[in-house]
Amino acid sequence: MKQMGVGLLGFGTVGAGVVDGLQRNRELLAHRIGADIVVRRIADVDLSRDRGVAVDPAILTTDARAVINDPSVDIVVELIGGTGIARTLVTEALKAGKAVVTANKKLLAEYGEEIFSLAEEAGVDLYFGASVGGGIPIVRVLREGLVGNTIQSLFGILNGTCNYILTRMENESLPFDEALKAAQAAGYAESNPSLDVDGFDTAHKAVILASLAYGFHVPMSVAAVEGIRSLAGVDVQFARELGYRIKLLAVIRGDGTEVEVRVHPTLVARDHMLASVSHVFNAVMVRGDLSGDTLYYGRGAGREPTASTVIGDIGDVARNLLAGSPRHSRGIAKLSSEPLRVRALSAIHSRYYLRLMVVDRAGSLGQFTTILGKHGVSIHAVSQKGGAEAQEGGFVPVVTLTHLAREADVDAALAEIRAAGIVGEDPVKLRMLD
Ligand code: HSE
Repeated sequence: MKQMGVGLLGFGTVGAGVVDGLQRNRELLAHRIGADIVVRRIADVDLSRDRGVAVDPAILTTDARAVINDPSVDIVVELIGGTGIARTLVTEALKAGKAVVTANKKLLAEYGEEIFSLAEEAGVDLYFGASVGGGIPIVRVLREGLVGNTIQSLFGILNGTCNYILTRMENESLPFDEALKAAQAAGYAESNPSLDVDGFDTAHKAVILASLAYGFHVPMSVAAVEGIRSLAGVDVQFARELGYRIKLLAVIRGDGTEVEVRVHPTLVARDHMLASVSHVFNAVMVRGDLSGDTLYYGRGAGREPTASTVIGDIGDVARNLLAGSPRHSRGIAKLSSEPLRVRALSAIHSRYYLRLMVVDRAGSLGQFTTILGKHGVSIHAVSQKGGAEAQEGGFVPVVTLTHLAREADVDAALAEIRAAGIVGEDPVKLRMLD
């Protein structure tokens, strides 16, 4: 049987999982793919650490170029991450005519256009399944299973750390800081958790999904990103009382002329399937014009789930190489000569959850609802929360759910409410999934 050589750049948690998975399922893979997949070289800066997987020390090197330039390596697997040395090495591998498999969402979100062009010029495969959703093969779903659909929307819970924090905030009434500490103690969040909790990790994944679904490179700069750092525990609890869970959601939606790409805490009705995705799990709901709603659920990170998707990509590339047909699956397939526009956040329509600390005097509630009405924001429900204990310095929390409204109109109304002196602090505005 023909052998297919793999070279690994980066021998961390996922790298070790890939080697372990390739060893464990070697025979099964050979039968399914028609080639024996062999790890030929592995590069990492640290070769002393025990990864819990047996490898021949002779294949280990600290020199990444020795992997790229090894003629027995057919497929280079980049698992370093980030946009520094990983970008340089992926570029070199593609230019050397090697097929590349990467899990690097940041690299593709920020330099996708450059990297995909290089793969195109070199006529080689570039697979990136594990860049979004860890063990959920959502990239493949969009490229293959749903290829015949116009994608109408994608809603994704794409960051396990945030979902874990939000689950703990809701279930145990924890404030954000304590839930974050719990996530760090459980080994989920990084010691600098900004990439996760400020929404950027989700946004990296969102722009990759948006690019796949809508056929143009969506730059990170046009994605609207709000994380969960400033989310107050009281809003998680009020949302729960109203029958909603708050999720950090990537919302991607196209209407034929414009695409929305946004990431923000979102109220999801408790009977919506995405509301039951808890702890570190991820899920993506994709609506195609033919398929209708489809849902993908699984572990979005971790050694084995991510290795599963990386190995899936290695298998596909190996099949393409065997068939003499690299570039079988193109990176981002252009769908039209004119790229769609990305809709400004101010122009979106959503339902909103608003929490205002309203001054407790006759007429203030009337003033507030009048201002909303003046800006065309229609109210679905209003409730004054809590009893005397909820009052703070003469202000009471008032929670309003709106009907569908334009974001700019809601913002204008909130600015006027602030200026009218009827609230004690800045209103809280959260979007709802509709
Ligand atoms: N840090 C991410 C998460 C996984 O918590 O889901 C890597 O994208």
